[in-house]
Amino acid sequence: MRKARLSSQPEDVLAFTSSLAADRWIFDANLAVDRAHVVMLTEEGIITLEISSLILSALDRIQDTGISALSQEEDIHAAIEARLIEMVGEDVGGRMHTGRSRNDEVATCIRVRLRDELLFMMRELIRLRQVLIMCAKEHIETLMPGFTHTQHAQPTTLAHHLLAHAGALERDFDRLSGAYTRTNQSPLGAAAFAGTGFPINRARTSRLLGFDGVIENSMDAVSARDFLIESVFASANLMTDLSRIASELILWSTSEFDFVTIDDRYASTSSIMPQKKNPDVAELVRGKAGSVIAAATGIFTITKALPQSYNRDLQEATPHLWSAVSDTLASIRMTAGMIDTMEVHRENLLRQATAGFAMATELADTLVRSCGISFRTAHQIVGTLARTGAQPSLAAIDEIGLSLTGKRMSDLGLDEHAISDALDPVASIRTRRSGGPAPDDVMRVTLVFEEKLQEDAALLDSRCERVEEAMELLQDTDRR
Ligand code: ARG
Repeated sequence: MRKARLSSQPEDVLAFTSSLAADRWIFDANLAVDRAHVVMLTEEGIITLEISSLILSALDRIQDTGISALSQEEDIHAAIEARLIEMVGEDVGGRMHTGRSRNDEVATCIRVRLRDELLFMMRELIRLRQVLIMCAKEHIETLMPGFTHTQHAQPTTLAHHLLAHAGALERDFDRLSGAYTRTNQSPLGAAAFAGTGFPINRARTSRLLGFDGVIENSMDAVSARDFLIESVFASANLMTDLSRIASELILWSTSEFDFVTIDDRYASTSSIMPQKKNPDVAELVRGKAGSVIAAATGIFTITKALPQSYNRDLQEATPHLWSAVSDTLASIRMTAGMIDTMEVHRENLLRQATAGFAMATELADTLVRSCGISFRTAHQIVGTLARTGAQPSLAAIDEIGLSLTGKRMSDLGLDEHAISDALDPVASIRTRRSGGPAPDDVMRVTLVFEEKLQEDAALLDSRCERVEEAMELLQDTDRR
């Protein structure tokens, strides 16, 4: 490629500039993009059918022998073209790059591969949401302590807690889905940045490759990497949500909490302490969240303030994308596995559900309802009770009420019965229907989540089918 224009390049400079190692991610995508371009060039009469079939069958052989058979070049695009010319000669192979540049080529290849990765992530995410919902359904009545500030706050149920994560992951799905719609657009035909004078058909290559549309402005097409930022940002957000689940699994499996046992397959032991069972998989999910956030920061920093249009800096952004999507995909799968196989210690959860005077809010609410006092006054009465550590009896409440308000709560309608109801976590939970842990309300939310899950699965199926169909068709066109 460079022989006419430049003198040869020393090994170390070639190694410095080459993206070939990371380009393994786009090897198959590149061959598909080559095929689509060649098919279109033929249909538009830019190259002959004879040339086209020689190129297409050589591309098949290049795919069969794999990336390792290619020579060390600046990148996968140059390596494939060099191999092609070696196989069929320059007069044939040298025509493939007509009306094209590596700039639109690489952008197209990244989009083709990334959309698959986004679809894989969405598939795994659907499974994780399913696992959370299934587990929640088994634990609609499983009482547990709810926390704020990692301090016992109010009782809740495990179902209510798990569905909180399911809700966050539903939004993560939508973010990936949004990133997909903007990723699956074709830059091909933009050439270096200014388009081409050859009578190419951009809509045709776009359709052949299963894209949903064309990026209209050719300068934008080659220089845009916002689809990278967006996809990695969505992954980073998702990883942040997974890291919160991971942290809880780590905390919950300590002997201090003892809420769950993580299955052996997701644990490691110590090389010195024979008794140890460590939650390494959960810790790595938590750690990889940091790596994915770093990848997002990397892409932002590399692309920030780049003038139009293509700059080689862009090559430096792509490997961050691939490490982010592979970390994220694996982390979703691991998290689903851990939740699906964990053992839940219902008795410990129940015992801890009311620890730390967790019924205090319910008792304050009861004072409001039974005595008609303001919530702030009730808060002070129960707060004083908590500070003194006295048993929440009618007598104790009367004494505090008298000193704070000059009135006995029993004179205002409070009785032993109302107090014991307030202190009963099961009764308390039944009343919490505003998206809370009340079993019937949790069931309602479960159904809402399941409905959205089905919609998302249908959307994902139709996108996968569309892409698969296009790719198969491209393969068929190839054989003619
Ligand atoms: N390896 C390059 C990249 O990833 C491909 C495009 C090269 N284009 C160029 N004008 N040097 O960005």
